[in-house]
Amino acid sequence: MPAKTILITGASSGIGAALARAYAGAGVTLLLWGRDEKRLDAVAVDCRARGAVVAIQVFDLRDAAGFAGLLAEAPALDIAIFNAGLGGSAPADVLAETPEAARALAEVNFTAPVVGANVIAGAMAARGAGHIVLVGSITESFPLPMAPTYAATKAGLKMFAEALGIRMARHGVKVTLVSPGFIDTPMSRKVIEPKPFLISAEAAAAIIVRKIEAGARTIVVPWQFAVIRGFANLLPRALLRAILSRV
Ligand SMILES: NC(=O)c1ccc[n+]([C@@H]2O[C@H](COP(=O)([O-])OP(=O)(O)OC[C@H]3O[C@@H](n4cnc5c(N)ncnc54)[C@H](OP(=O)(O)O)[C@@H]3O)[C@@H](O)[C@H]2O)c1
Repeated sequence: MPAKTILITGASSGIGAALARAYAGAGVTLLLWGRDEKRLDAVAVDCRARGAVVAIQVFDLRDAAGFAGLLAEAPALDIAIFNAGLGGSAPADVLAETPEAARALAEVNFTAPVVGANVIAGAMAARGAGHIVLVGSITESFPLPMAPTYAATKAGLKMFAEALGIRMARHGVKVTLVSPGFIDTPMSRKVIEPKPFLISAEAAAAIIVRKIEAGARTIVVPWQFAVIRGFANLLPRALLRAILSRV
């Protein structure tokens, strides 16, 4: 791996931790951010053992202004991976999501990556190089009745990634959207419904890193969800809504 400085948010768990370990190696500097210091430390120890230089930052992304300030002070980044996210579905026996849960989802899954990516995009554009990676979800394409806010945050992130990618292209900055299906992490372990095509966080990270390095603009992992989304997009919207209303 050539010398690189890489920021990963949500590096204390799941996909973010697996991405950190996958990128760790000689010449790589990792800035690993999360809330849980103990788990973040454990990931840092593994990454250092693989030869990376690691700095950890314990931070709650719900403080968007503080996040922007910290990022503005960060060293020049080759890759910024905005991966941190909250899962969340509303139980069928409640009428709607709580305002607190909806706000937390919006802040962590949408506001933080959008604010952060804008800060980093400006710095990368000024240097004429860099790569921003936003971790969304395949739910961005499905109006899931069990998770309206989660699906909406990810749909918003998808639009943001595409628009930012067009805006940044002339400045030498790449933007990639990662859309996971089911990846085996603490977040997905809370889902009690069947999880088709589930793969490990390590397998997902290996695919994501390979495709980021190849310059992919969009990454669906595992690939089967790209096929499912393709079929769903062929359905009349009313039929898709009718199917989802029975889920
Ligand atoms: N796993 C899947 O099947 C799946 C599917 C689709 C999309 N995704 C997306 O993939 C990304 C990673 O998810 P994961 O499955 O790896 O989940 P995870 O294991 O629960 O990890 C989530 C990460 O986000 C961090 N985070 C959450 N809230 C935060 C906050 N307020 N401030 C700072 N950090 C915060 C967590 O930090 P702490 O643990 O330190 O609190 C943790 O490092 C998310 O964006 C998720 O939406 C996952």
